Amino acid sequence: MKRVLIVNGPNLNLLGTREPEVYGAVTLEDIERLVRERACLREAEAAFFHSNHEGAIVDALHEAVGTYDAVVLNPGALTHYSYTLRDAVASIGIPVVEVHLSNIAAREEFRATSVVAPACVGQISGFGPDSYLLGLEAALAVLERRS
Ligand code: DQA
Repeated sequence: MKRVLIVNGPNLNLLGTREPEVYGAVTLEDIERLVRERACLREAEAAFFHSNHEGAIVDALHEAVGTYDAVVLNPGALTHYSYTLRDAVASIGIPVVEVHLSNIAAREEFRATSVVAPACVGQISGFGPDSYLLGLEAALAVLERRS
């Protein structure tokens, strides 16, 4: 059974109340439930990690090695400037899919750039909670292709 770690960065714990006009009314707990259900259908296992702290996310990525086969990562605003996170993704040697609820290409100019994405196998952006389901599917497809 494939194991996928879903990692959420700063401010994503506030989904549901945070800028609902941008991110909608769905909470992080709702997203976790949806992903868990999809993982179950795919006979995979999903685990979840959230932190508002860059270093804690780096630690979680390091610790994913040996336990998880792939990672689905929403780095929040770290997406746009964290070379630390990019290096962590590049260092762990397991596929990481970057996901965003909003379409980062269609918002403020600073959001259009992801410094993390080049170290990822790909990026999914703009589909609300479905971005996570698509991210999970993409991660499983990558693993399938590699096996
Ligand atoms: C986000 C987009 C980022 O620009 C923002 O800082 C977030 C959420 C998204 O999922 O759309 O925190 O990653």
